[in-house]
Amino acid sequence: MGSKKEDQEKTKPIEIIEEVLPPPETTTLLVEDAPALKRLLTLNLEIYTATKVVNKYNADDLVEYLKKNKKVDLIICKNMIGKENTILKTYYYVKSNRLKIPIILLGKNPKLHNEVQMIDPGDWKSVIKTSAKLLNVKAQNMIRQELPDYYPIETKTLLILNNAPIDIMKQCDDGTFEILYKAQDKIDKSKLRQIAIEGAHFLYIKKKSRLKFAQNFSNDVQSVLQKEMTDNDRIYATGATFSYSKQLITTSGLTEGAIEMAQTTIGSMLKLTESSKELTKLLEILSESEEGYLYKHSVMIAIIASNVISKMEWGSKSQKESICFMAFFHDITIPDDDLCQIQTNSGLEKAEVSPELKNKVRNHAKDAKELIASYPNVPYGAESFILQHHGTKTGIGFSENPTDPNISPMAIVFKIVEEYVDVCIHPPKGGLKREEYIEHLKKIYKAGQYKKVVEALEQVLIAPPKKEEK
Ligand SMILES: [Fe+2]
Ligand SMILES: [Fe+2]
Repeated sequence: MGSKKEDQEKTKPIEIIEEVLPPPETTTLLVEDAPALKRLLTLNLEIYTATKVVNKYNADDLVEYLKKNKKVDLIICKNMIGKENTILKTYYYVKSNRLKIPIILLGKNPKLHNEVQMIDPGDWKSVIKTSAKLLNVKAQNMIRQELPDYYPIETKTLLILNNAPIDIMKQCDDGTFEILYKAQDKIDKSKLRQIAIEGAHFLYIKKKSRLKFAQNFSNDVQSVLQKEMTDNDRIYATGATFSYSKQLITTSGLTEGAIEMAQTTIGSMLKLTESSKELTKLLEILSESEEGYLYKHSVMIAIIASNVISKMEWGSKSQKESICFMAFFHDITIPDDDLCQIQTNSGLEKAEVSPELKNKVRNHAKDAKELIASYPNVPYGAESFILQHHGTKTGIGFSENPTDPNISPMAIVFKIVEEYVDVCIHPPKGGLKREEYIEHLKKIYKAGQYKKVVEALEQVLIAPPKKEEK
């Protein structure tokens, strides 16, 4: 089975032709919090420019490092980390201390025109090429680095398995790779956890074995997830299959393997919605887990929305399955976890990312609907529910009419629950007060299905229902 072009594009080594013997002992500081991009950049910078990459969490962390270590040759920095204006803080520190360190901004910032190199983070090859230039990697000194192609797998993904499906490699400090597990080796989970804690968030397989890995992993993981397990273990294990599914879909589209993995993940999400654990407890475990926003909010939506559906007069078991399906696919085409948090047109306009990324966010509901066109057995109506999950009939942008009557009831449940989940994950100062939040929703959603959904949500969140609310 041939892999798709896009896939090849993503994993083939970048072509730095005629280049690269790395200059001796350079250091690059990287401030990027998206794990996959961080890993991709670190790995390729080390391979192609031989610079030592030091990862920093934010601007403060970077400044601390610069105070103690004068010898830094390049800074690669994200625009914002959380609410911190990371690039501006970094730039002003470097400038005011006359450090003369070149800076690459992963993204755009109008305040820094001509001051730093701005590169779209999606174009990671340009980041590596520009870094090579800025680090003075000279053409005449180059060696051609014929490293085999490796494909990264999140370490936590492997924690679900009892045995290695194929050979698994680990990257050593000098950039070379060594076998950590041979095929069929037993995986010692505490040792693997330790490896992850020490910073190896990714392990590697040979690129050409990717399909074999996917098949074996899929079989193994299905048998693991079908067994009884605690909610905590299931949240963790489902998180791993969720992110692996997303990786497969992003790199190769909805292939057979990706569909199988998605089905396994959705099945496990459904099991979580049927948990006997008290809702508050379950939500607490989820919001405190270290999983990314995409997974966390998708599972929380699935759990709360399926409870809301049980309270609706039209609610049924098959609609709960639909909700899990929707929760899995609704934001899957958004490339970055942070961008999944955008819920309004104005939020999208303000986001400091490239126009391409903005478009991806703007069209993500439509793209998700198109993606699932090749999925077998899509639950009845799920395409249009996904298309409308931000309240628009076209799946483009975010609705400016909070009570549009043309939106299907399932999409209304999803939309209102998603708003609530977002507040759960980012509670206001002083904590989230459910009663107050419900009152706030009642002021927005005053009629029709919208009103009914808020009432159902109130019953789910505030049990037993209060007789007389002030
Ligand atoms: Fe979402
Ligand atoms: Fe969305």
